[in-house]
Amino acid sequence: MAKILVTGGTGYIGSHTVVELHNAGYEVVILDNLSNSNIKILTQLHEITGKWHDFHEIDLQDDKAVQEFAENHTDISGIIHFAAYKAVGESVEQPLKYYKNNFYSLINLLTSFNKKINFVFSSSCTVYGQPDTLPVTEAAPVKKAESPYGNTKQIAEEILEETAAVTPDLNVIALRYFNPVGAHETALIGELPNGIPANLVPFITQSAIGKRGPITVYGDDYDTPDGSAIRDYIHVVDLAKAHVAAIKRLEENKAGTNYEVFNVGTGKGSSVLEIIAAFEKSTGTKLDYKIGPRRAGDIIQIFGDVRKSNEELDWKANLDLNEMMRSAWEWEKYIKANPF
Ligand code: WQD
Repeated sequence: MAKILVTGGTGYIGSHTVVELHNAGYEVVILDNLSNSNIKILTQLHEITGKWHDFHEIDLQDDKAVQEFAENHTDISGIIHFAAYKAVGESVEQPLKYYKNNFYSLINLLTSFNKKINFVFSSSCTVYGQPDTLPVTEAAPVKKAESPYGNTKQIAEEILEETAAVTPDLNVIALRYFNPVGAHETALIGELPNGIPANLVPFITQSAIGKRGPITVYGDDYDTPDGSAIRDYIHVVDLAKAHVAAIKRLEENKAGTNYEVFNVGTGKGSSVLEIIAAFEKSTGTKLDYKIGPRRAGDIIQIFGDVRKSNEELDWKANLDLNEMMRSAWEWEKYIKANPF
């Protein structure tokens, strides 16, 4: 049974990916420093998969700890690297915290796991900025990031591409996520925002459950059909499955190149107001929202051309907006009744 290391495996996307790797027959090792997640997720993963997954509390910025871990785990054939800071606003206020953590972590992994390794990197559609053409393809130009967070994703992709170019034993796939939302069907794992959620859907669910006030729609004067901004929202379980597909493609090693990039979205755009309506419809819960000013750094609209992923990763998003909203709501209710 192939053994896959999941860094950031107690986090939102990481934990859902642990489940899908388990379901696909992989053995999983989780490495996390718990800086933005909760160790109780391990118990939740046990309840979902019936297994206690091997867990190591390590900060990837600690090069000696990562080196020792790699020396003790030479049977790891693949790495899915989620562990990074990812709050756009915080990255603007604390750029060095973001550059240090996100780059030291990546570089320590690459220098420590220097034998044959399949490496899946958690990237983001944020690298495209506001695309000139929609839907956006992987060939679209990468634009100057709006934030240090986005810059760390762009530069990390360059680090991986340039390293892979001179390291035949390193096989890399970078997955450019669109907007991950929703939760596992069991409602036992989901998004655990630290403090006031910056992202739309966790704010919606917290507002709906009474933990936050009304939702502010950041602008309804954009050049879009209903004036609110458009994103490509993808269910986190579909996103998790794309990581399993990426590992499988790397194992098959038929790409003819050892660095590839794939868009991971639904290919469909939804506006903020459409998300609000979809949540109300799928949960039967009325939302209280108001229109506010645009948020600095936001782009108007983006959604992905996902043909390359559908064809070459043999992966396609299946879960619709209704399931995204329903599962997000079920998770919010679960975490209220069972606080970590
Ligand atoms: C979505 C839309 C907001 C909150 C960012 C990162 C991306 C990824 C996901 C980490 C926008 C609007 C939001 C609110 C609102 N990050 N909104 N009221 O900014 O598209 O993407 O998070 O993995 O890399 O760039 O996601 O959920 O913050 O915003 O109107 O209270 O909802 O303006 O149009 P975003 P988001």
